[in-house]
Amino acid sequence: MDAPVTESLKRKPPSLHGAGEFWGLAWKALAWLERTVQPGMATLETGAGASTIIFAAAGADHIAVTPSSEEAERIRRMCAELGVDDARVTFHIGRSQDVLPSLELPPLDVVLLDGAHGFPYPVLDWWHLAPHLRTGGRMLLDDAYLPAVAAIVDFARTSAAWVVEKPASFRTACIRKLSDEEPPDDADARAARGRMSFTYLPPGRRAVASVRTRVFSTRAGIWVVRKLRPPS
Ligand SMILES: C[S@@+](CC[C@H](N)C(=O)[O-])C[C@H]1O[C@@H](n2cnc3c(N)ncnc32)[C@H](O)[C@@H]1O
Repeated sequence: MDAPVTESLKRKPPSLHGAGEFWGLAWKALAWLERTVQPGMATLETGAGASTIIFAAAGADHIAVTPSSEEAERIRRMCAELGVDDARVTFHIGRSQDVLPSLELPPLDVVLLDGAHGFPYPVLDWWHLAPHLRTGGRMLLDDAYLPAVAAIVDFARTSAAWVVEKPASFRTACIRKLSDEEPPDDADARAARGRMSFTYLPPGRRAVASVRTRVFSTRAGIWVVRKLRPPS
């Protein structure tokens, strides 16, 4: 079988996130992890659950960051029930935005972001973890249709340091790190990389502001403005 642990979780989804609650990754994404993660890989996830069991089953040296110690206990119990060795799994109990900045980490092969999903938490998780991902390593971003997660995918699409790969499921994006580069601190239109929003303005002023900014914040536009400016 291609992904046996995923298959057995699918047959009877366990209540890992509270009584009757299972908030697991899509089955395809769990199967992707089960096929991709290899024994001895260093891996980390924000949030915990079925994915933690899969990382354990794959034999990774795995770190899970979750604020819920009850979740961690339920996951360990489920590992025992399934006969999955969880000895290489370390839980750090706390919110990722508090835990990650001071966590000492090895170079990571696979990272899963699936903790807090509201703005700006996925971006904070990405910021703290991207430098620890090995060149060539992959990061899965769950619920990639949500604005704070989609912002990471949008950035990766325009960055030479990342490539957006085939998604691991209909809601799980996959990005691969190609090099160690911080995002550029560009200003004006260059920072927007083609995506600008003027929704903070009343509708009547949006079109004018949009055209003006798009035309005059470009290199060519700035050159034209300088040429038209009367000499001082
Ligand atoms: C959608 S569930 C994760 C599901 C898991 N990947 C799976 O396959 O079962 C979201 C998780 O994020 C955790 N969480 C919520 N806020 C968090 C935070 N600020 N930092 C880290 N984890 C958080 C929850 O406790 C829960 O474990």
